[in-house]
Amino acid sequence: MEYPEIFNVDEDEFLIGAVRDPFDLIQLNKLHSLWNSQGALEWSSGVNDFPLFSLIDPDGCLVGKLNGRIVSILIAINYSKTNSFIGAFITDPKLRNRGYGTRLWEAALAHCGKRCIGMYAVETMVKRYQRDGFQSMGKVLIYKIGQLDRFDDPEDDSITDANTVPLQELTVFNQSTGLAHLPGNFLQAWMRQPGAVAVAYKSRDGLLGYGIIRRCYANGMWKIGPLVATDGRAAEKILHVLLSRAPDARGVLMEVFADNKPAVELVEGLCGTVLEENVIMYRSITGSEVHSNFTSCIYAVTSGVIG
Ligand SMILES: CC(C)(COP(=O)(O)OP(=O)(O)OC[C@H]1O[C@@H](n2cnc3c(N)ncnc32)[C@H](O)[C@@H]1OP(=O)(O)O)[C@@H](O)C(=O)NCCC(=O)NCCS
Repeated sequence: MEYPEIFNVDEDEFLIGAVRDPFDLIQLNKLHSLWNSQGALEWSSGVNDFPLFSLIDPDGCLVGKLNGRIVSILIAINYSKTNSFIGAFITDPKLRNRGYGTRLWEAALAHCGKRCIGMYAVETMVKRYQRDGFQSMGKVLIYKIGQLDRFDDPEDDSITDANTVPLQELTVFNQSTGLAHLPGNFLQAWMRQPGAVAVAYKSRDGLLGYGIIRRCYANGMWKIGPLVATDGRAAEKILHVLLSRAPDARGVLMEVFADNKPAVELVEGLCGTVLEENVIMYRSITGSEVHSNFTSCIYAVTSGVIG
């Protein structure tokens, strides 16, 4: 039987570790997107996602290296004492089904410890994750919205730069809309990331919602998340403004809870098409609270890694 050359070396060395350096994290983000684009999917991570996840948990961007070369990637972020999120799990397409992913997965579970872990799983892997105690809790739909030149910026005084809203006000708003667990320092850095647009919608009585659009690695794609609003009308207004502010985009991605009917109707009303469906899975071995995020106020998820 013949093996690829790399397996002919006498002693293969497979090591697992965390990438911490901001420059290396950008390179890792690119490698992840490259492998991802080699599949048929148009899903993509944002260009700054990995360095920003690392702000919450500097030991959470995990890689498996075979003889010094990265062959598998997995993000496992401990975002509180009781909760973690796992995502972006991928192995080099040329080296799949050789056990590297499983070893990285086991290291990720050990990193999360007894925390309640959330993840978005592709349908084909659900049974595999169930073996490690994960349970399905609904679905998230990945939409793509195209033809962006039909959206005009309303240039309305009630829409402001979300970066001018005090963090305390955003934190209080998040507590009432189901995003209480999003760490403040992460949200601030996420809103300020280079090239992103963050807008807030305010009435005289206070904040009605906010949203962020950021650039992806996939050719010409942008991504919205989070989009949080008190009701459908506020969400629609914010969504239109965000879509008008990415004029060079080929398409915009949004991850939407399938059970949030008003959010699904809003995106489908703009001719959004479903690219992929993922299963929301959780494992809570000590009974810690599940941050299911199933509130009707969340119109687009921040990112599959941090809910
Ligand atoms: C999922 C993935 C990261 C696993 O990496 P890997 O290095 O191939 O992992 P392993 O060789 O250790 O295999 C892990 C398990 O996944 C299973 N698996 C891998 N791809 C699968 C697929 N498409 N459908 C069903 N099971 C699959 C393997 O059979 C194995 O199961 P086992 O424990 O019963 O033997 C890799 O297949 C991949 O990159 N897939 C594309 C991206 C993706 O779908 N990621 C998962 C998102 S939830």
